[in-house]
Amino acid sequence: MSVKSYLLILFHLVPWSLGMGAVFYFAFIAVPLANRFLTGETRVKFIRWNIKYYSPFFLLMLSIVVVTGAWRLTDYKIVLGLQYFQDVSTVLIIKLCLFFVVYILAAYQSFGLGLKVTGQGDKAMEDTVDAAVVDGVFKKMRWIAIINLIVMTATAYVGLELSRIPYFQ
Ligand code: HEM
Repeated sequence: MSVKSYLLILFHLVPWSLGMGAVFYFAFIAVPLANRFLTGETRVKFIRWNIKYYSPFFLLMLSIVVVTGAWRLTDYKIVLGLQYFQDVSTVLIIKLCLFFVVYILAAYQSFGLGLKVTGQGDKAMEDTVDAAVVDGVFKKMRWIAIINLIVMTATAYVGLELSRIPYFQ
């Protein structure tokens, strides 16, 4: 396999791992820390700043995963030709359906929920937001993060199958 192919797979897996790390941090570190050690305005600020940086970072990582995955698929199409649909399509359809779920949940998490507490524009974070609203949003975002951890792990499993298609060993 060419160095280019190895780099493509590497830049497919590294953003995925960083994305998983960010989701794990958000769901299992940021929340418990905020709930355990912070109260009042400080806690609300901590949560809002976490959401402000977590959302775009996670969406960026997913976008890099898509671009490198699609790019790698082009290699498959060139080499496999008509065989491609027979050998790759089933696994790929399952993988893309799982990925679609991850992406839609991540988009809702960021734009449907996150923006409610971070707002838009530089000054937005200076506005006060009711702690109950932040709590409600944070809880929902946490559950979406946990679901995405599970679905991304399933997607990775299907990814392992995809890359074991013998033509590329
Ligand atoms: C959350 C989303 C995704 C995860 C976690 C993921 C994970 C993985 C993993 C773990 C592998 C196996 C790498 C190896 O064995 O070397 C893989 C391979 C692959 N993935 Fe993904 N993937 C994701 C999304 C996508 C998307 C959206 C596409 C296409 C648009 C894609 C296309 C591919 C291809 C073509 C391979 C085979 C690479 C090779 O030749 O070894 N993946 N993926």
